[in-house]
Amino acid sequence: MDNATIIPLFLRCEYKANPLGIDVKKPRLSWVLESEERDQTQSAYQVLVATSEELLNEDKGDLWDSGKVESDQANQVVYNGKGLSRTYQNDDTFRRCYWKVRAWDKQGRASGWSDTAWWEMAFFSLPDWKAKWIGLQTPPLVEDQDLGACPYLRKAFQVEKPIARARVYATALGLYRLFLNGERVGEDYLTPSWTDYHKRVQYQAYDITEMLRSGENAIGVVLAGGWFSGRCGFSGYKVYGDRPHALVHVHLSFEDGSTEMVTSDDSWKASTGPILASDIQMGETYDARREMPGWAKPGFDDSAWQPVDTQQWSATPLVAQQAPTVRKTQELHPVTVKEIPDGSWVFDLGQNIAGWVRLKVKGDAGTTVRIRHAEILNPDGTIDPKNYGYAKSIDYYTLKGDGEEVYEPSFTYHGFRYVELTGYPGKPSLDSVTGIVVHTDTPLTGTFECSNPMVNKIYQNTVWGQRANSMTVPTDCPQRSERAGWTGDAQIFVRTASFNMDVASFFSKYMVDVVDAQSEEGAFPDFAPRIPAGWAGDGAPGWAEVGIIVPWNLYLCYGDTRILEKHYHPMERMMDYIYEENHNYLRQNRTNNNVADWLNVNSYTAWDMLATAYWAYAADLMAKIARVIGRDDDVGKYETLLRNIKVAFNEAYVTPEGRILGENRGRGPGEVYEQIPGTDTQTAYLLALGFDLLPEDKKPLAVKHLLERIEERGWHLSTGFLGTPLLLPVLTEMGHLDLAYQLLQTDTFPSWGYFVKTGATTMYEAWDSCDDNGHKKGSLNHYAFGVVCEWLQRSVAGIEIDPDRPGYKHIIFHPRPGGGITSAKATYNSIHGMIVSDWKIEDGSFRWTIRVPANTTATVRIPAKDSKLVSESDRPADHAEGVRFVGMEDDRAVYTVGSGTYEFAVNEGT
Ligand code: BGC
Repeated sequence: MDNATIIPLFLRCEYKANPLGIDVKKPRLSWVLESEERDQTQSAYQVLVATSEELLNEDKGDLWDSGKVESDQANQVVYNGKGLSRTYQNDDTFRRCYWKVRAWDKQGRASGWSDTAWWEMAFFSLPDWKAKWIGLQTPPLVEDQDLGACPYLRKAFQVEKPIARARVYATALGLYRLFLNGERVGEDYLTPSWTDYHKRVQYQAYDITEMLRSGENAIGVVLAGGWFSGRCGFSGYKVYGDRPHALVHVHLSFEDGSTEMVTSDDSWKASTGPILASDIQMGETYDARREMPGWAKPGFDDSAWQPVDTQQWSATPLVAQQAPTVRKTQELHPVTVKEIPDGSWVFDLGQNIAGWVRLKVKGDAGTTVRIRHAEILNPDGTIDPKNYGYAKSIDYYTLKGDGEEVYEPSFTYHGFRYVELTGYPGKPSLDSVTGIVVHTDTPLTGTFECSNPMVNKIYQNTVWGQRANSMTVPTDCPQRSERAGWTGDAQIFVRTASFNMDVASFFSKYMVDVVDAQSEEGAFPDFAPRIPAGWAGDGAPGWAEVGIIVPWNLYLCYGDTRILEKHYHPMERMMDYIYEENHNYLRQNRTNNNVADWLNVNSYTAWDMLATAYWAYAADLMAKIARVIGRDDDVGKYETLLRNIKVAFNEAYVTPEGRILGENRGRGPGEVYEQIPGTDTQTAYLLALGFDLLPEDKKPLAVKHLLERIEERGWHLSTGFLGTPLLLPVLTEMGHLDLAYQLLQTDTFPSWGYFVKTGATTMYEAWDSCDDNGHKKGSLNHYAFGVVCEWLQRSVAGIEIDPDRPGYKHIIFHPRPGGGITSAKATYNSIHGMIVSDWKIEDGSFRWTIRVPANTTATVRIPAKDSKLVSESDRPADHAEGVRFVGMEDDRAVYTVGSGTYEFAVNEGT
């Protein structure tokens, strides 16, 4: 070791720290480099991967020794060692691969080895599984529920030799919880993730070595219908199957080298227990008097239990859990509790969340407490759950009468801020209710704060909305009888989401759902996973392009090329699908459920125009994607397509005066819209400018019309789901930063500020979700309009990606102070490490701290009329270490910098 100044830290495999049970044959590795020095980069790396920690400690990589690789690459490094694709039969693996890395700095000095990390392989193919699907033979039906009581399944087994290592792999058609010797296995909720269960089912892996004992052990599973057979999306019950089943595979490795399996099969026993009904949308009914103490422990008398129902293999692939699982991430204590005249109690958590309530209660056996949830209160203080649709979201707990009882539901979740308890024995205290925040545990990566508290609230509300709508898939809302993976919402929000949280594997998994849901003709879906019963929407403009837009954004944010390669063919099919019936380059056919600029403010954009604009955007991305992954022939093909669409667009919709008019040609979304001709709306101009569809001479004209359209609304927006993402970025790009700031900070209807003013703690679904009288309707927890945070991240804080060096390998810092905002700070824990942009205006001076992670570089665009005014750490900036002056551009002094922390100041105003 030659005392290199860089240290490799935070080793991850497939975006996860030490993942247990992955099924990727060539996993990708990443690390983050830290350095105290400025302008440091990695000049080379070496990765060692070994079958044991001992070998690795001796610096032996028996699986892979990459040797010294001259490269500055520190993520997406593909494992290139011995084959990991062994199967269960021919190898006692589920092999843990231990790995470490060292890096050489810019001067060629080697770091020490990193700490040891590992990943562990799981199953690769169906035949590896020896288990059978097991469930309850005939679930007894409970009144008013379609689903029946939750099955409890158990089996006792012997461990006769000392255990070296034990793993369990488990999943369900439905939802499951696993217990071993009376203890819960893992801390995951709502497993397995929602997928199209006819296409694939995800399993989870757990290390149970420490939970086993010698002699008799017992394993138990509780099941519920979940998305599989419970109410799912907007489609009622049993859309994938009619009863839940579990699959369990315990793998025991003994110290003597032998192995044994315990699997779900017909030797298990089944019963029902205290969970009389449980459904994601309807809630849970729990009778504590029916608890069966010790049911998952050895020695329990299960003689009265029934044999299990077993189901044979289907050909459905089983795949390892890809994204983080759902976890409890926070607990909230109510801020108020009030009694209402009918004797119920209403608690206010002060924050709209997704999750459930932990109830504490003491009383007589047989007393039932009803727990209702709501986002809205009536003026008299009672709850108003009307906006839940068919989703009842009610939990019932019946006491066993045994001192203080604590209850949390197992297989449901609710979107709520208010909790109503009815039938509570005695007077509850604030402490009787705790709000449990539950969602896919994507790590928080970003923060944003500025001098305007209302803007900060908009930001926080967006993050809360992202939490609540990350429920194994990105959902539209967490409360009503919908909660579906709408693709339009997801494509709008993916970039914002990626700043707030590490969503790389979450959206990678969602992309599998999107591709699984692709129609036979090639259309990507309007929601994923596909919900087979009833209406199967696909191909809607602005929604179905998700299959192209999401991978592109994952490439930009994480440098992930594999996702582009993996889904390139499905993307091509989508493009062919559109072209096949639109040879005139206007997307008038096959627009299916074209909801156009959904939830606009009485401002109807012609739907074929909007569809055509989105087609152009998709063609542009396809050309870029083809270039990145070396599909050189296709680059020209998609560039030509883009040119043709632009020509057709301009001929069809753009007047010589630069007005954009559409007549709603082609098939529209439904009667309501068909009566309304599309006019030159804000969204029409935003699409044309944002997707760069106009010739240069038309752009200023279009900008003029856009401003008129905003002015005629009293300087308010009128945009829906597809126009809103472009509103502030296009105004900024076209030289109207002041107006962008004005719209951001407006608090009259319709605006983001109006949401805040009306008490929002999450993003509302529609601009008119709250009327002037404070009456609320629709979903109060949709993340889509939270897309405004992308502008805060990219334009206010000014942390921008360079598409030529994605994954923030080269960062463009370009903050745009304005709008009376005097300070803004964003932090972003990128795949390369922590990025910071923190500016304030003090006594007319612009002071700005930035952090550029080691092994990255940045272009810094400082608002200054003259580079002489710019200092760094109190020295002229162009003399500062690591800083190179590039030149002046549009009132900006432009520098390139290496890694490090820099304190810039512009000393005479901005
Ligand atoms: C959902 C939206 C979705 C839309 C599309 C709504 O019901 O809540 O977020 O994108 O339908 O039709």
